Amino acid sequence: MLQDNHGRRINYLRLAVTDRCNLRCFYCMPENGIDWLSRKALMSYEEMLRICSVLVKMGVEKIRITGGEPFVRKDLMPFLTALSKLAGLQELTLTTNGVLTAPFVPELKKLGIRSVNLSLDTLDRQRFHSITRRDELPQVLQTLEELLKHGIQVKLNAVVMEGKNTEDILPLAELTRSLPVSVRFIEEMPFNGSSGVKALSWDHFQILNKVREHFPEVHKIPDPPFSTSYNYQVPGYKGTLGIIAAYTRSFCGTCNRIRLTPTGNLQTCLYGESVLNVKDLMRSGKNDPELIEALESAMNRRAKNGWEAEKEMLGSTLMHRSMASIGG
Ligand code: GTP
Ligand code: 5AD
Ligand code: SF4
Repeated sequence: MLQDNHGRRINYLRLAVTDRCNLRCFYCMPENGIDWLSRKALMSYEEMLRICSVLVKMGVEKIRITGGEPFVRKDLMPFLTALSKLAGLQELTLTTNGVLTAPFVPELKKLGIRSVNLSLDTLDRQRFHSITRRDELPQVLQTLEELLKHGIQVKLNAVVMEGKNTEDILPLAELTRSLPVSVRFIEEMPFNGSSGVKALSWDHFQILNKVREHFPEVHKIPDPPFSTSYNYQVPGYKGTLGIIAAYTRSFCGTCNRIRLTPTGNLQTCLYGESVLNVKDLMRSGKNDPELIEALESAMNRRAKNGWEAEKEMLGSTLMHRSMASIGG
């Protein structure tokens, strides 16, 4: 069992396979002038498989593939197939924007993938274009349809942004009437690759108030262990609602997750800096016991509450990285 220096069990890895994306969500990255990582700077599939295999042996039970957009990286499916065979891995899952995903859904199902998180901030084609700077909503809806058709659980992620999509809260919530999905509204975090931090205008209270105005009977339901969202349901509806207080709430007390960026940087906290580069270790010829030792030592230097330190900085105009470079 992998544990950190504060007694928290680590059993969840978020692995970002690429920094690239085919959308340009303005809360995540700028439209132009992005310095994409070179192929060489990325971990290869072989390297990712090796480090995942080591981490699974150390106690990781769940791997979430993130990006960027995972399907933008060539040959993702053979990698997922290899990962799905790792003994000891109980859950393999993905966060995707859904633009390229639909044709792969039958294969995902075959690999035993039981759930997928799909980013969807609006059901309106024009607003989708204005938020993501691309006109790809039909493809995303096609992915949603395919996932549901194949009985894969879907969590829809909607970042709530003043002046951009607050009119979408109710139509998105209304999806849960007939669809067995979890629609999750997310506070916007200052991770958009630009400097300056604006005040958060829609926090979790405001989001819930908006939902309650329209659905006064909405009620709290139990949150699964380690859930990022507070969960709710409208009685009689098939799906559920969630609110992720990504900006105003600390998840640190029960944090069971670590992250690997596409370049192999290990982040033991979303807010922290890299504590180790596993790609460099592997390329310098380290064997598995040496990797394990380095990983264990990194877990023993884990911040207790990274969110608090970040809060201090949030008022500043420091440059904040793009979410796509960390994997969310
Ligand atoms: P599961 O619990 O595995 O479904 O994952 P998730 O809900 O964390 O995954 P997803 O990739 O769908 O991310 C949803 C939102 O939660 C994104 O906006 C993430 O950036 C945010 N998020 C994920 N992990 C953390 C965290 O450790 N702290 C904070 N503040 N936000 C997080
Ligand atoms: N604030 C909150 N959520 C974000 N995501 C990307 N950037 C941000 C941000 N600045 C979300 C995406 C995706 C998930 C991995 O992270 O919507 O669903
Ligand atoms: Fe791409 Fe996701 Fe970032 Fe949007 S939020 S630009 S879909 S990585």
